[in-house]
Amino acid sequence: MNKMKSASQTKIIDITKVSKYERYIYRCLVGPFRRYKKRQEYLEKAIPKGFHKKLLIFDGEIVGQIEYAPAEVSYYPIMDDNVIVMNCIWVLRKAKGHNFGKRLLQDMIKSERDTAGFATIALEDHWSPWFIKWQMEKLGFKPLDSIKVAHKTKHKGQVFSVYFMWMPKTENAKPPKWKKEKFLEGITFCTAHPLYHPQTWKGNIFEAK
Ligand SMILES: CC(C)(COP(=O)(O)OP(=O)(O)OC[C@H]1O[C@@H](n2cnc3c(N)ncnc32)[C@H](O)[C@@H]1OP(=O)(O)O)[C@@H](O)C(=O)NCCC(=O)NCCS
Repeated sequence: MNKMKSASQTKIIDITKVSKYERYIYRCLVGPFRRYKKRQEYLEKAIPKGFHKKLLIFDGEIVGQIEYAPAEVSYYPIMDDNVIVMNCIWVLRKAKGHNFGKRLLQDMIKSERDTAGFATIALEDHWSPWFIKWQMEKLGFKPLDSIKVAHKTKHKGQVFSVYFMWMPKTENAKPPKWKKEKFLEGITFCTAHPLYHPQTWKGNIFEAK
């Protein structure tokens, strides 16, 4: 895949309201499709308020995705009326290194002209390959704050950091705030997320360290 070819054969489509791609609203690029209640409730609340999910298609194959929403209806407890939160971004390993991540990000920035900036999370010392801090930094996000946590049932005793990441639209944009303690609850809207909170677990799934 050379750069000329990748540029001409790549398209990004917003699948938020396209029934043909419904399964990709519920699941990641890979993995089983299951229409589950928590996700359904989340989408019903978030879509009317500005949630978007987009796919990057290269040469007819879906190789990347980005999902974002206004802070109020995002995955993370980030407080600000005028901030867009990137819930997730993913480019398949086989398609890495062709600026597809950056293109998905730029597409979000172009679509969300009126926002003060973009926030997301990053992880350090987590056992999964997800949300690695240097990767989020490469995309342009910078850390504002962090919390150290441990999972209550998995990899017991392993402490990892959750970073609150920010990318202002303009230099003087006011950074948003987050509710650190809310992170301990985890995330119920995406079963593939490294901070997933299983439906059967009562109470916080993480403890502060
Ligand atoms: C982060 C991610 C989206 C980047 O996508 P990508 O298409 O591989 O990256 P790009 O080609 O757009 O590169 C973005 C920047 O990172 C740099 N970069 C990418 N991979 C790199 C590597 N292995 N080493 C150093 N720099 C690297 C690129 O040079 C580029 O920087 P530049 O703009 O200064 O040149 C991708 O790595 C990914 O999907 N990671 C997992 C994300 C994740 O955890 N999702 C959550 C799932 S639950």
